[in-house]
Amino acid sequence: MTVTVQTPEGVFEFPCANGETLLHAGLKAGVSLPHECATGTCGTCRARLRTGHVDIGWEDSPALAKLKRDKGDILLCQARAKSDCLVRVPAKVTRTVGEDAPANFKGTLNKSRLLTHDVIEFTISLSKPSHTGNFTSPSIALNNGRGNAPRANHPTSSNS
Ligand code: FES
Repeated sequence: MTVTVQTPEGVFEFPCANGETLLHAGLKAGVSLPHECATGTCGTCRARLRTGHVDIGWEDSPALAKLKRDKGDILLCQARAKSDCLVRVPAKVTRTVGEDAPANFKGTLNKSRLLTHDVIEFTISLSKPSHTGNFTSPSIALNNGRGNAPRANHPTSSNS
């Protein structure tokens, strides 16, 4: 499926796999969609669905309750495309290309440490170094081997 995003800076298109959130698909394509929590809590990823169909995701998310659902407002971090979609994003958006573009890396979880009751730190060794030596993506997805994909946001570790 294709997601088209209208922004004040222009129009961006990117592919979106079945079951993938619009936010993840956009970030993967180097489109700097607005977001913070990526968990349906903050509302930073608010967008308005103009055409197409999405699975809204977490119906009881705190951020979704504040949106104008009747006008088509969605959360990019929760919505999954069910068809080609056109969404309007009222934020500054850019696209990163070339070697600075986001990339997927495989890695091994070396250590996890509970920092607070709801924050955990992961230490991961990447299978290959990133060209910058640092994480540049705002989030990483972890697969626990059971089909779930818990998310970790804002990694601060270096892989060097
Ligand atoms: S990024 Fe916070 S609600 Fe989507």
